[in-house]
Amino acid sequence: MTPPTAPTSFMVTTPIYYVNDKPHIGHCYTSVACDVLARFKRLDGYQVHFVTGTDEHGQKIHKAAEAAGMAPQDFTDVVAQRFVDMAQTFGISHDDFLRTSEPRHARAAQALWARLQERGAIYEGHYAGWYAVRDEAFYAESELEENAEGQKVAPGGAAVEWVEEPSFFFRLSAWQEPLLEHYRQHPEFLGPDSRRNEVVRFVEGGLRDLSISRTSFTWGIPVTGSEGHVMYVWLDALTNYLTSLGYPDEDTQAFQAFWPADIHVVGKDIVRFHAVYWPALLMAAGLEVPRRIYAHGWWTHEGQKISKSLGNIIDGSDLVARYGLDPVRYFLLRAIPFGQDGDFSHTAMVQRLNTDLANDWGNLMQRVLSLLAKNCDGQIPAPGALDSQDAELLAQARGVLEDMRAHIDRQSLSLALEALWRVVAAANRYVHTEAPWRLWASDPARAHTILHTLVSTLRMVALASLPFMPGTAGRALDALGVPVRERTYAHYETAPTPGTRLPAPEPLFPRVAS
Ligand code: MSP
Repeated sequence: MTPPTAPTSFMVTTPIYYVNDKPHIGHCYTSVACDVLARFKRLDGYQVHFVTGTDEHGQKIHKAAEAAGMAPQDFTDVVAQRFVDMAQTFGISHDDFLRTSEPRHARAAQALWARLQERGAIYEGHYAGWYAVRDEAFYAESELEENAEGQKVAPGGAAVEWVEEPSFFFRLSAWQEPLLEHYRQHPEFLGPDSRRNEVVRFVEGGLRDLSISRTSFTWGIPVTGSEGHVMYVWLDALTNYLTSLGYPDEDTQAFQAFWPADIHVVGKDIVRFHAVYWPALLMAAGLEVPRRIYAHGWWTHEGQKISKSLGNIIDGSDLVARYGLDPVRYFLLRAIPFGQDGDFSHTAMVQRLNTDLANDWGNLMQRVLSLLAKNCDGQIPAPGALDSQDAELLAQARGVLEDMRAHIDRQSLSLALEALWRVVAAANRYVHTEAPWRLWASDPARAHTILHTLVSTLRMVALASLPFMPGTAGRALDALGVPVRERTYAHYETAPTPGTRLPAPEPLFPRVAS
């Protein structure tokens, strides 16, 4: 129950986003989920390092820059800014925004390469095989599928091309057994279970050495001492997690405190890179592997896959402009279990906003605050002895934090919100049955106890909502007169001080027309 006393560290990362296009709801989703984890841990007393950023090299970006008629660096400068703006629009509280075109990153990637080379993990050869630029991935012939037009495509449908070029290889094949052993020893390493099983099957099927340099284009980090070779973009990109901690300087306070990362949150399409290639590269380099990888599902839009060609991209900033930031953050994490696919529809969004937020939480706040404004001179009243209904509601509100901690540690974000909303529902039932407005004449002391119990409960609800809806929960805490220094989980159970004067009540959420 008690938060950690010694400072405990927590490192969380988003994937770094390709800068070939505008950010959309899928990118916002990963970032918001990580932001909730980071904010929750900070409130719980952890020292947090939260990294996000942009993946700027490789053939895909090179082609996008060419198509835009721009030099790659100029192009990525423009597009990366859109991701910086997205983070700002979505209230993302990252500690570092890393661009892979920054010098600190080339230094880290080249150092990791040198270390792998020193340890005999890299050899020079020739690659002949399939490559999908959209996925920036190499595929074995046996993995390819045929599309409706009879063309060979990658498993997710990406076009593939035959590539032959001189290349350096990473001895991935040597890591099959150590990886399987790691998955066995650390069942928490990869979630959800469906992804773990998928990865175990893939690795059991045998690993081929991985081509880790390209020679047919130049937009990448140069391989030191091997002119014409740039690093394979996934080796480059994965290293960002180390760069952010100042690698190759491992004796820094940041590296010591935060590596290995506690969690890399990724989409289900990039599990193989994070759960197979990345730990193998780290083991080969003699570095610790991340503690956990968690893969979330994909959003569709009104039942359809989101794609540029279908023209149904959902722009996150449009949603925020229409519904407000916190309702969008809430919807993304509440509407579908984190780990599963889900569908975005405006109908579902409006329904959640009106039901869970405006009715269940917003009206409850409004009701309690209006009663206080009208009958208690806008002050928190002093409670008398608690009856079992009061004690039960308070116990449920106190207990939910521990449930939420457990859900947060499993990235079960929708379950965390469900648990919290059970408290909101219980508080609504309580206010209905206790009906304090009927007691002003007959038993004002009892009315005060009921209202104090409600303010206590709403205070805990707002604190527990802070990671999910920082703006609205902050306003709720203002409305409840909670001092800023008490807005942490060390003060979760602190009782509201009688006599605290509250501002005039204002609605938390506007209702939206469907
Ligand atoms: N650059 C790589 C990641 C490198 S990490 C070392 C990449 N970038 S991406 O921009 O294509 O995707 C970033 C994230 O967005 C991925 O986790 C991906 O799963 C997620 N999403 C992209 N479209 C999505 C949806 N429609 N729904 C949910 N998430 C989706 O991959």
